[in-house]
Amino acid sequence: MAKTKTVYICQNCGVESPKWIGRCPSCNEWNSYVEEIIPAIAKKSTRDKLSAVMPELISEIPSADQPRINTHSREFNRILGGGIVPGSVILLGGEPGIGKSTLALQLAMQMPDLKTLYISGEESSRQIKLRADRLKLQKGDCYILGETNLEAINNHLNNIRPGFIITDSVQTLQTDSIESPAGSVSQIRECAAGLLRYAKETATPVLLIGHITKEGSLAGPKVLEHIVDVVLHFEGDHNHFYRVLRSTKNRYGSTSEIGLYEMQGNGLREIDNPSEILITSHENEISGVAISAMVDGIRPFLIEIQALVSTAAYGTPQRSSTGFDLRRLGMLLAVLEKRAGFRLSSKDVFLNVAGGLKVTDPATDLAVITAILSSDTDLPVAREICLAGEVGLSGEIRPVGRLEQRIAEAEKMGFKKIVISSFNKIVGHQKIQNIEVLRAGKVEQLIRMILKP
Ligand code: TYD
Ligand code: MG
Repeated sequence: MAKTKTVYICQNCGVESPKWIGRCPSCNEWNSYVEEIIPAIAKKSTRDKLSAVMPELISEIPSADQPRINTHSREFNRILGGGIVPGSVILLGGEPGIGKSTLALQLAMQMPDLKTLYISGEESSRQIKLRADRLKLQKGDCYILGETNLEAINNHLNNIRPGFIITDSVQTLQTDSIESPAGSVSQIRECAAGLLRYAKETATPVLLIGHITKEGSLAGPKVLEHIVDVVLHFEGDHNHFYRVLRSTKNRYGSTSEIGLYEMQGNGLREIDNPSEILITSHENEISGVAISAMVDGIRPFLIEIQALVSTAAYGTPQRSSTGFDLRRLGMLLAVLEKRAGFRLSSKDVFLNVAGGLKVTDPATDLAVITAILSSDTDLPVAREICLAGEVGLSGEIRPVGRLEQRIAEAEKMGFKKIVISSFNKIVGHQKIQNIEVLRAGKVEQLIRMILKP
């Protein structure tokens, strides 16, 4: 009988150890080591063996321009770089309840010319049918399979021969070749590898849905992220309807594209024009609102930043921010205090990014300080102005990238003026006709420029 060997594997990061450890030295997670059985592998002879695959000269390999599979979802095509590459394995991660299963089902039901298979280990076929009815999706050749055993799944795959496979989720799969329980690191790794093999052999694309840990990384070992071709994250705020699909790895395209969705009563709707919904149309001009021409990845859109500055009633003033880094807010307040002479240290400051989106683009700094100053002085910013610029520690307004795209988006949305850094160069020969470009070098200059007395 083959001798079985056991190792302890961290369920958080996949590090192995010969003995149990209370705290993982690699990811610092407590109590994450679980004993898993590793089947003994018969030693192969290492005598000189010529493999069937021969090394090839790169210049002689035919450059096959693989046609991509159209997913019939503009946002999904965009984020993958123009559609799914046959045989690719895509990992989709996200918090529970964010809409991964909904997105996957919509994809499966949207492909008119492909037979799709939705393997579900989490929901029953009835539940999925209910959801499809609710989403008003209809498709003749979409199969639902409530199976979690990899060997059984493989049999079905050989019978059905689908053109696109979805696995919801990879954590529920298990294979007989390993004795560890479903969801353990070795099981996830082995099952993903099994599906990967099938994908590559038959050129069938596979979408794996993965859970994420409370820290926000994909549960299971990093190994999973290494073996798949594309890693996507579906994120958003549970209290809002907007969802952002990001790619953190893409072997067939750039990772700078994002996909935007809105969760509605009848499923996820793609957002064509984010600027339109992220800016609230106020009837009158109100103080404390500024519009930023921001870029997420390579996608430009305009977003509304709202601030409320009020005198602190008790003791320490509060600083609170949703969608914007609190430490960066602290820094911007210090700049305003020190460089522009605004007494904000005794005031409460609340900052909010419209739509529940998180912004990380430094170019939003200018809109943040404008919104704060506008609220503090109670002077509104004209509705026709938007801003794009980073603020430095000495109060200087620094240049930002992709300026032409920001200006074009602002122009498209009907803004009449955009404030940028004096040091920003506009490259390219793009014509700027309907928008006036205002330049400011210091925060003090900005104040005079935009606040209407
Ligand atoms: P789901 O796709 O089940 O999330 P996940 O697979 O990521 O856990 O989506 C769950 C949430 O989406 C659910 O809480 C309700 C919401 N939802 C809608 O608002 N509209 C819909 O049409 C559907 C199907 C779900
Ligand atoms: Mg789900």
